[in-house]
Amino acid sequence: TKNIAILTSGGDAPGMNAAIRAIVLAGHRYQYKIFGFYHGYNGLINNELKPLAISDVEGVIHRGGTLLKSARCKEMRSKTGVSQAVNVLLKNKIDALIVIGGDGSFNGLLAIHEQWQGQVIGIPGTIDNDIDGTDFTIGFSTAVDTALSAIDKIRDTADAFERVFLVELMGRQSGQITFNVGVSCAAEKVLSFENFNIQQEQETLEQISTQIQTAKQAKHSSFLIVIAENLWPNGSEALAKKLTSMTGIDCTLCTLGYIQRGGSPVAKDRILATKMGVSAIQAISQGKSNIMVGEQNNAICLIPLTQAVEHNKTVSPLLIDAQENILALSKQTDAY
Ligand code: F6P
Repeated sequence: TKNIAILTSGGDAPGMNAAIRAIVLAGHRYQYKIFGFYHGYNGLINNELKPLAISDVEGVIHRGGTLLKSARCKEMRSKTGVSQAVNVLLKNKIDALIVIGGDGSFNGLLAIHEQWQGQVIGIPGTIDNDIDGTDFTIGFSTAVDTALSAIDKIRDTADAFERVFLVELMGRQSGQITFNVGVSCAAEKVLSFENFNIQQEQETLEQISTQIQTAKQAKHSSFLIVIAENLWPNGSEALAKKLTSMTGIDCTLCTLGYIQRGGSPVAKDRILATKMGVSAIQAISQGKSNIMVGEQNNAICLIPLTQAVEHNKTVSPLLIDAQENILALSKQTDAY
């Protein structure tokens, strides 16, 4: 048998519980002993270890957040912290460690791998979808749907008041959420890392102002700008103020924030999490290590952990082109 420990780390993502459940159920099938470290890497360093029984994962598949709790752990960035983590793994005779999280969490796992002989497996769990080697991360689809239903409501108010709204979305340094939500809500403008160049700040401002004014003149009732967090120099509020003063039209900022991180996972995330959880156990049974379980073109794949954190993932060029050159302009070129 093997002793397998799981932890969830970094931003929680809907579907993490579904992944934990799949690992526990699959692990028991293989007669492995499954444990959870609570509170992410902090819990690993502090030895917050508990066995996970099948009853612990009953009734969790539909719940957002993570039953193992999560944390961002500064100690894991130091050699001492990593050594402490390794000592705890050795002390508990853990054979394999599965970490569900994003790139920061995988960097921690890579550091552990350098000092520890046990098997290390990553499962991509983050709403940001900024992990290489997998088409989707657990939580992304739910976050997109959550943001979309919120923006559909904002659109009602924007229409009723014939207002301009800026909606700021999460994603850290990635525009995956912003672009996909922007296209889905028929945003008049998507502002994200993929189509904004800081050198062209003034040009962008003038372009959006003109777009807003043209839309106003054409009597379009609302104008929605979807913007990625951490994008605009001095923040999205500064952009809203600038646009208000340039156009003479009120531009209201609404930051969706943490609402995007919680909630019941959509079916797509539950299924992805289940496949990844089961595959992680299968990979462990095959002696695999230093890998992330991903999914590409509907097939599970195991990719080197180092590759997962390279940050080469891009938003679909077709989507960017369509948004920039076809969809967003369509209203303004209406000739009727
Ligand atoms: O990685 C998930 C995420 O929600 C990002 O989209 C966001 O930038 C960040 O976490 C917020 O982090 P924190 O929970 O530390 O405020």
